[in-house]
Amino acid sequence: MTSTTTPPRITVVGTGYLGATHAVCMAKLGIEVLGVDVDDRKIAELAAGRVPFYEPGLAEELSTALESGRLRFTTDFDEAARFGDVHFVCVGTPQEQGSDAADLRYVDSAMTELASRIHKHALIVGKSTVPVGTAARLAQLVTEVAPQDAEVELAWNPEFLREGFAVDDTLHPDRLVFGVESEWAEHLLEDVFRPIIDAETPVIVADLATAELVKVAANSFLATKISYINAMAEVCEAAGADVDVLATALSHDGRIGGRFLKPGLGFGGGCLPKDIRAFRHRAAQLGVGQAVAFLEEVDAINQRRRSRTVELVRELAGEICAGCAWRLSAPRSSPTPTTCATRRRSTSRGCSTSRARRSRCTTPRPTRTRTAPTPTSSTSIRSARRRTRPRSSCCSPSGTSSGTPTRPSSATSWRSGGWSTPGTRSMPRPTGRRAGSTGPSVSRPWHPCTR
Ligand SMILES: NC(=O)c1ccc[n+]([C@@H]2O[C@H](COP(=O)([O-])OP(=O)(O)OC[C@H]3O[C@@H](n4cnc5c(N)ncnc54)[C@H](O)[C@@H]3O)[C@@H](O)[C@H]2O)c1
Repeated sequence: MTSTTTPPRITVVGTGYLGATHAVCMAKLGIEVLGVDVDDRKIAELAAGRVPFYEPGLAEELSTALESGRLRFTTDFDEAARFGDVHFVCVGTPQEQGSDAADLRYVDSAMTELASRIHKHALIVGKSTVPVGTAARLAQLVTEVAPQDAEVELAWNPEFLREGFAVDDTLHPDRLVFGVESEWAEHLLEDVFRPIIDAETPVIVADLATAELVKVAANSFLATKISYINAMAEVCEAAGADVDVLATALSHDGRIGGRFLKPGLGFGGGCLPKDIRAFRHRAAQLGVGQAVAFLEEVDAINQRRRSRTVELVRELAGEICAGCAWRLSAPRSSPTPTTCATRRRSTSRGCSTSRARRSRCTTPRPTRTRTAPTPTSSTSIRSARRRTRPRSSCCSPSGTSSGTPTRPSSATSWRSGGWSTPGTRSMPRPTGRRAGSTGPSVSRPWHPCTR
């Protein structure tokens, strides 16, 4: 159903990766938005139309939103409290120093700063990723600190966007999750997300705890899938099997699927590692640590991938350098030094020796000292070498010829300013956009947040 009512005015508190994207996209949907941050330099940058981090398409959308007059930025919490009917809190929740727990001081501070200045009926919506139980505590906090004449309620709306696809993921999410405690809060959130809901995006309404858990459960599942195939890579290497072929065969099983099932460098970014650790920490506090104890091994497999990848690159670079030396000594059939250097650049990126030695193709193969028992290196080198060549489409679970995720065009799918315009997509959702760890296994770290 399409609404023609005026949407609520919103603030976005914390204009980092998540918040800046959310603010811009909400303005694009026709909502009046005020972005708030404690970092005045960040606010000045955004207000000047500059995005202080790299996200494809966001700078263009930011300029359009600023020009529309629907998006402004401030560091003034009083102004924010007066302006907003709905306040989205998008501040960071990093890993605490010396602990696996999430550091919630920024969320606590943002909630307190805001709620203590509100003098009307308003909804504060947490979007940050937090341990289960945080929202219930914060609901009490905001009620306590809000002035007498205010009626402040808390809701939770976890975010699933992936860096690199943030604009498209925000405008066309797979689902919306509303953790609410009243119908009023639910309807207010429906009003904010009306164009997205009109595009038949599923909405899951839950209690606060479930909404918080959806996010960490999703990230844990994705991390587990990535580490699972990387664990299979370890076994394949020891057994002389080919993990790429194994992954392809698994991916044809509809129950398993091919996304996030490509062996590689593992997961990184600002979210998955900290989120699975915070989840384990919180589960232990709740007395159910064993239920998610497997996440410790998921983390360990992921850590091992990094050192193994560096080792693999060294092996590969060493072989290539040795190959070049041999070829240069054969006068007629050898490649020119240029050819050799070009080939080395495309295959040995990341080798600490390659840059310094680029001009000398006669570098002998370095002697390797293994500190731990390593499985047959020939298998890994064979695998790695195969990955540097173009792959046929039949090897790609995602159906793309290279297995590389299709980056959606930054072209917008929503008509801007069309609050009362029925939301129609101007382009189909790109296939393969959830291709997960597709792409060259050793050369491209990617961030499934999915962060
Ligand atoms: N980045 C992502 O792709 C992504 C995706 C989904 C969920 N998340 C979650 O969203 C949250 C934010 O992540 P991010 O990557 O945007 O972090 P970020 O570090 O890029 O941004 C956080 C922002 O909050 C601001 N801030 C800190 N304290 C504040 C306060 N008291 N008042 C106002 N602003 C304050 C900081 O100055 C900063 O600009 C985290 O919980 C993260 O796990 C992130």
